[in-house]
Amino acid sequence: MIKNLIYVSNPVGFNEKNIKNILETSNINNKKNKVTGCLIYRQDLYLQFLEGPQKELEFTYNKILSDKRHTDIHKLSENSTKRRLFTNWAMRGDPLMTSMWTHKDIKDGKVKKLNSNESLKLFEKFSREIDQFN
Ligand SMILES: Cc1cc2nc3c(=O)[nH]c(=O)nc-3n(C[C@H](O)[C@H](O)[C@H](O)COP(=O)(O)O)c2cc1C
Repeated sequence: MIKNLIYVSNPVGFNEKNIKNILETSNINNKKNKVTGCLIYRQDLYLQFLEGPQKELEFTYNKILSDKRHTDIHKLSENSTKRRLFTNWAMRGDPLMTSMWTHKDIKDGKVKKLNSNESLKLFEKFSREIDQFN
């Protein structure tokens, strides 16, 4: 069994340099820790799905929790599962994936209010979309 979790947060100082840095660090660490998943990012939102062995997942999430590059970190879902949704670690900035949310929706906390099942369904959909492009 592996674990997965989904959280949402508010970017702080969102810029290309930060994104590049997060991507590079995550690529190295996640490979080492057998963590896969997907980070959706836009100016007003981080939405991340992480999956892997429990210990490594907790270790990674704890580091993310204390990262100053985002605030208001809010866990939406946490589950045990036999199957990974993502075979790699991916980071997606495409606006297409989250175009269903306006900036106002996000400001109003629409993503934060998703329940566990709704947020999981979203990443199941994203995982199929990402697979199509790989
Ligand atoms: C939105 C966001 C997502 C992140 N995702 C990951 C991740 O998946 N894996 C990871 O190792 N670090 C991630 N980080 C970076 C960690 O917070 C932390 O800076 C990093 O793990 C430190 O790596 P080090 O211990 O190798 O220096 C993320 C940071 C942010 C702000």
